[in-house]
Amino acid sequence: MSTFLLLNGPNLNLLGSREPDVYGATRLGDIEARCQELASEHGHELSSYQSNAEHDLIDRVQKAGEDGVDFIIFNPGAFTHTSIALRDAFLAVAIPFIEIHLSNTFAREEFRHHSYFSDIALGCLFGFGAYGYELALHAANRHITNAEDK
Ligand code: DQA
Repeated sequence: MSTFLLLNGPNLNLLGSREPDVYGATRLGDIEARCQELASEHGHELSSYQSNAEHDLIDRVQKAGEDGVDFIIFNPGAFTHTSIALRDAFLAVAIPFIEIHLSNTFAREEFRHHSYFSDIALGCLFGFGAYGYELALHAANRHITNAEDK
């Protein structure tokens, strides 16, 4: 059994009501519940955390390092495009992670095209809406299972 962390950044607590034409109608609680369900099916434990504050997200990543979390699925929200501090937190703990975005940020404004996380992530998912989180969970499971087999 492995432990996963589902981490969501600023404004993602508003999913469901926030710009539904861009982000869809699914609420964050439903995404977290679905990921929880899939993690249990794969025999893993998953905890979920969302914050609008950069320092809280950094603290949560550091705690994941202390707790020995095996894998993180992370939607950094707008911090994707700004946060060297969060990038450094991921480099510090060296936990493999998937960067996920509901929208295809490359099809949007130019300031969303750069990410401080993509080059240090195991992989990235853009533009699949809430379903992307399910894909991320399956990919995380595959990565962990292969690592355990080695
Ligand atoms: C987002 C994309 C970001 O550019 C934006 O700031 C968000 C959501 C996404 O999931 O598509 O808050 O991360």
